[in-house]
Amino acid sequence: VGNIWQEGEYSISDDPARLDLGSIHEFLTNSYWAAGISFEVMKRSIENSLSLGVYAGARQVGFARVVTDYATFAYIGDVFILESHRGRGLSKKLMRAIMSHPRLQGLRRWHLSTRDAHGLYRQYGFTGLKTPDRHMEKWDPDIYRVAKTGARSLT
Ligand SMILES: CC(C)(COP(=O)(O)OP(=O)(O)OC[C@H]1O[C@@H](n2cnc3c(N)ncnc32)[C@H](O)[C@@H]1OP(=O)(O)O)[C@@H](O)C(=O)NCCC(=O)NCCS
Repeated sequence: VGNIWQEGEYSISDDPARLDLGSIHEFLTNSYWAAGISFEVMKRSIENSLSLGVYAGARQVGFARVVTDYATFAYIGDVFILESHRGRGLSKKLMRAIMSHPRLQGLRRWHLSTRDAHGLYRQYGFTGLKTPDRHMEKWDPDIYRVAKTGARSLT
């Protein structure tokens, strides 16, 4: 656990103690994919993932987490770089840090979902589903909103 990469003022670390949960929540709860996520749910997701922070000096400016069994499978999610630090290759450094992480080698399957950043992930070997007919999902995009109002009927 610790620093993975450093160049000038920027660094990437997998030390969970360094993560600025407030700023991560600020970004994620306003994102298109995790809109409305509560601080508590976000914190639990981070605690149970391999979570990486991107830092400019001491300030956190980017994030990604990997949901994994460290043996066969990994899911990459919640990837972002704060707007003021975009366009400098930081997400590519972050992806390289993930894909070369010593605890994430030899996995049979990596998975992720993205609206428009396919071109980023393609650079690290990701493709569209080769056998979409074999993949299934159970997706509930409104769950954070529903959890807040408690308005959910049992079916
Ligand atoms: C996507 C994001 C993480 C890119 O971060 P960044 O540090 O500015 O990107 P980089 O400077 O490392 O460059 C990203 C590379 O991916 C490519 N790319 C493909 N799709 C992209 C997209 N939607 N946005 C940005 N870059 C994209 C770029 O062309 C670039 O490759 P190149 O240098 O070979 O041309 C950042 O724009 C972001 O946080 N966006 C909002 C959150 C988001 O959409 N996250 C992805 C959810 S899956």
